[in-house]
Amino acid sequence: MLQLAVILPTYRERANIAPMVARLDAALQGVVWEAIFVDDNSPDGTADEARRISLTDPRVRVIERIGRRGLASAAIEGMCATAAPIVAVMDADQQHDPELLPKMLAAVEGGEYDLAYASRFAEGASTEEWGRPDRVKASGLANRIANKVTGVELSDPMSGYFMLRTETLRADAHRLSGVGFKILLDILATVDRPLKVKEFPLNFVARIEGESKLDQTVVFEFLVGLYDKWLGRIIPTRFALFGTVGAMGVAVQLGALWVLLKVIAGERFVYGNWSESATFNTANTLAAIIAMTFNFVLNNELTYSDKRLRGFGPLLRGWAQFGLTCSLGLLTNVGSAAVLKTIGFHSVVAVIVGIVLGSVWNFALSSRFVWGK
Ligand code: GDD
Ligand code: MN
Repeated sequence: MLQLAVILPTYRERANIAPMVARLDAALQGVVWEAIFVDDNSPDGTADEARRISLTDPRVRVIERIGRRGLASAAIEGMCATAAPIVAVMDADQQHDPELLPKMLAAVEGGEYDLAYASRFAEGASTEEWGRPDRVKASGLANRIANKVTGVELSDPMSGYFMLRTETLRADAHRLSGVGFKILLDILATVDRPLKVKEFPLNFVARIEGESKLDQTVVFEFLVGLYDKWLGRIIPTRFALFGTVGAMGVAVQLGALWVLLKVIAGERFVYGNWSESATFNTANTLAAIIAMTFNFVLNNELTYSDKRLRGFGPLLRGWAQFGLTCSLGLLTNVGSAAVLKTIGFHSVVAVIVGIVLGSVWNFALSSRFVWGK
């Protein structure tokens, strides 16, 4: 009977698939297992490679997702796609040692522990990948919050290598966030009762094939995950990010305007007295373009990091499209405020409603046209 499913999210891991399957096979002698590669339509043909192996080794399964990106959601979908009573998640890039799987299985299968995971910072562990902020020993604010949120002391709450009973996961799968949150943390924070966790020291080796896809924004991602967990149902996380970036854009425009006026008007510049309207309008147009560009870059990096535009062509096109949507948003903003004011609303109320409507409009348009498919 099927005992264990190993979920391996992949993005551009073609060269790692065959070695990974061979290593699973070697490590899991005597265990009835399946491996599920969850690939986000990698351009290097990772899914094809996994399907090629699956033809002769049906223990290997493939889920290919089109038009979506994301490690956490890939892991969740993989875990929900197996009939095996126990499920593990691990990286497909061979940085996680499959030799730990039988030990984790022994801990979880007997019911002694609810969850087993591999820690890069437990006693006896090691890591060949220092120099990245999240790779630095568990001490940071993120880890302290993580321990508070989960009620479990973990030496490596950001680990991506763990195992648990599938039913534990399935009972709460609909409440998992799947957004920018480390999936292990998400599970521990979502399951209501504290889970009994067994730690295994991991020797986190350097990558041999391919390159890392996770960026330096781990702490940011973590905060987004917390937000999503607590407030995501009230204000959609992406819209909250978009709005926050927009508010920063306002500050950038004001700052840029101030600097530009000082530079252009020089000696004649008196703060609060922008009487030369031509100068003012030129400077403010430039400041608006600067703010718009700032918003575009930040949204591309953070709000839409999973759909990030890359390369000169796509970036230029995205920037122009974003400029266009912002202009339409501005019309919505100013227009709705004007209407509200005419029908007797207080100016401040009219302006605020205008800002909200303009932002919603901007968000809807740019989600669809700038970062949409
Ligand atoms: N399906 C899918 N979609 N898989 C992805 C995506 C994605 O958008 N991004 C990355 N992956 C896969 C990779 O192909 C790899 O198998 C695994 O997820 C880990 O990605 P890496 O890019 O190798 O991550 P890392 O080594 O830098 O990060 C490691 O440390 C993190 C904590 O700092 C991983 O172990 C993470 O799981 C861990 O959270
Ligand atoms: Mn890796």
